[in-house]
Amino acid sequence: MSFLDGRRLRRTRQASWSRSMVSETVLTPGDLIWPLFVIEGQNERAPVKTMPGVDRLSIDLAVDAARHAHAEGIPALALFPNTPGELRSSTADEVFNPDNLMCRTMAAIKDAVPEIGLIADTALDEYSEDGQDGIVVDGEILNDETVAIMVKSAIVQARAGADIIAPSDMMDGRVRAIRDALDAEGFEKVMIMSYSAKYASAFYGPFRDAVGSGSRLVGDKKTYQLDPANREEAMREVEQDLVEGADMVMVKPGLPYLDIVRDVRERFSVPVFAYQVSGEFAMIAYAAEAGAIARDPIVMESLMAFKRAGCSGILTYFALEAARKLNA
Ligand code: PBG
Repeated sequence: MSFLDGRRLRRTRQASWSRSMVSETVLTPGDLIWPLFVIEGQNERAPVKTMPGVDRLSIDLAVDAARHAHAEGIPALALFPNTPGELRSSTADEVFNPDNLMCRTMAAIKDAVPEIGLIADTALDEYSEDGQDGIVVDGEILNDETVAIMVKSAIVQARAGADIIAPSDMMDGRVRAIRDALDAEGFEKVMIMSYSAKYASAFYGPFRDAVGSGSRLVGDKKTYQLDPANREEAMREVEQDLVEGADMVMVKPGLPYLDIVRDVRERFSVPVFAYQVSGEFAMIAYAAEAGAIARDPIVMESLMAFKRAGCSGILTYFALEAARKLNA
């Protein structure tokens, strides 16, 4: 016998006002982080073939996008460069060029829209010729050599105006190395949002098209990104990143990994973000285009699910349209 026996649980659901009284989760524009892809050029917009409605933007248009995002209450942008092929190399040196596309984009946005937060993706795959997140020697992804280059990248990003460094590579020890270097260079206020539980996922395909690393990718990323079968290993990654100095952690992909978000939320007292990645975006966008589902309600339901699972915020390509809906 429970106090629920015979209770009419539908009572509180009978009207919009009563549903609103008992609603447990809120989603606001402040929960949304908008990933942007940038390209060289002026007034250039290049559609991502596998992400209907998502364009790569030249710096001037990225600045306009930042203005729109800020106007809708989006707190931060996550920036990803599409590095021209001729600047990619096996050592990814362009990643620490203080004048690279990423750094110029951040400087331009900081100048025009200083109120919006800038999250710099720190990884080699957007600059390497093989699409791997690390230096490859004889087919092996070298850890410490990669971390040394990422540190240099984080410093030029901080100088260009990055507020948050987001290492998305899954090398061991990178958070501590980046933290130490930032502090040594006087960037003790720059935060680290670590891609802590990043899985070796098939959901990243459209992103790799967007940054131009997909067709280059040799092999897979299973020696550094997590096995989708593992939950406990994700907790070890999160714990280690926190010990090393991460201010916030991320789980990626998003919806298929909400159990991991919930685990992090329950075990650690730390802001946790999830990335609704490109493949998740594509599934919704294409299914909506085909008339199989209704785009707006699915977008909002998916974002609410992240919040319900315990996310502090969500990186999502739907950020601007969702913020507009929320503000309407
Ligand atoms: C690069 C990086 C990837 C994503 C974010 N940063 C791709 C990868 O690891 O292969 C994926 C984002 C998405 O799919 O939307 N280190």
